[in-house]
Amino acid sequence: MINKINELLKEVETLTAANTEELEALRIKYLSKKGTISLLMNDFRNVPAEQKREVGQYLNKLKETTQNKINELKANFDNVQIVNNDIDLTRTAYPIELGTRHPLSLVKKEICDIFGRLGFSIAEGPEIEDDWHVFSSLNFAEDHPARDMQDTFFIQHNPDVLLRTHTSSVQTRVMEKQEPPIRIICPGRVYRNEAISYRAHCFFHQVEALYVDKNVSFADLKQALLFFAKEMFSADTKIRLRPSYFPFTEPSAEMDISCNICGGKGCPFCKGTGWVEILGCGMVDPNVLENCGIDSKVYSGYALGMGIERITNLKYQVKDLRMFSENDVRFLREFESAN
Ligand code: DAH
Repeated sequence: MINKINELLKEVETLTAANTEELEALRIKYLSKKGTISLLMNDFRNVPAEQKREVGQYLNKLKETTQNKINELKANFDNVQIVNNDIDLTRTAYPIELGTRHPLSLVKKEICDIFGRLGFSIAEGPEIEDDWHVFSSLNFAEDHPARDMQDTFFIQHNPDVLLRTHTSSVQTRVMEKQEPPIRIICPGRVYRNEAISYRAHCFFHQVEALYVDKNVSFADLKQALLFFAKEMFSADTKIRLRPSYFPFTEPSAEMDISCNICGGKGCPFCKGTGWVEILGCGMVDPNVLENCGIDSKVYSGYALGMGIERITNLKYQVKDLRMFSENDVRFLREFESAN
């Protein structure tokens, strides 16, 4: 019996398997219940008592060697599988953390959703614009200060290529192409040549809304504004409209909401007035409609524009505008629960 075991030991040492199926066949051949080693174990009963100790040792060695050999062959296949799975060895060993939405994206989405509930659909336009869409079509006089180099980033040597200073340019882009009724909400990034500080930045974000149809009135505008303020802040938010001036609207107004930080009682944020300004608005100037090929005797419209940073500050009390573009994850993580 010892001879047989020795033969088997040699045989096991030379085992190879080309694939996992062959390996499984070997395992069955040697180690299964009806396999070679089990059969030898059965024969062990007939071994004379004085040889049992020695034969037992050989048998155990055979069993162990076979098991080790099978494990060794199996490890080869496991390694091959890892390579085949294209595991990315440059990946960080630490768990990948879930990101959070940027606060400005959260607020932009909320604004668009609120106007979406009033039937507005999203429209977008280019950030690199021309004079016509940003200024001329919107009734800016030739010498209007907003065209001044102080405010606008012009592309060198070509004053007709510039970075848009407001999203009102999207109004023109849509009105030129589309017949009324038009009901759009236009979010986007805008640029102004300002020194960067805690309260100003050379780029920021705006949302523009435009509604053009027959018989659109200032009352419609006011209703939409009240709805927006209550949805965005709280049901008890009040609004107030102050006369103002914009080249592209007539009449024009600025809207204040009751300060949502002190509830209108007066605090440092609202400078003790109980009110904070959040947007500009008005009835689209007939000249603007005509510039875009819309008959101002048939159609009228309202427009409004607001800064997303300003609304975000009011909602989350972010004191320094620069935090929005620094992308410090400690700041961004504070908005995790709002996601
Ligand atoms: N475009 C203006 C700005 O950047 C905001 C604005 C005011 C937009 C009044 C409007 C509006 O549509 O009617 O300051």
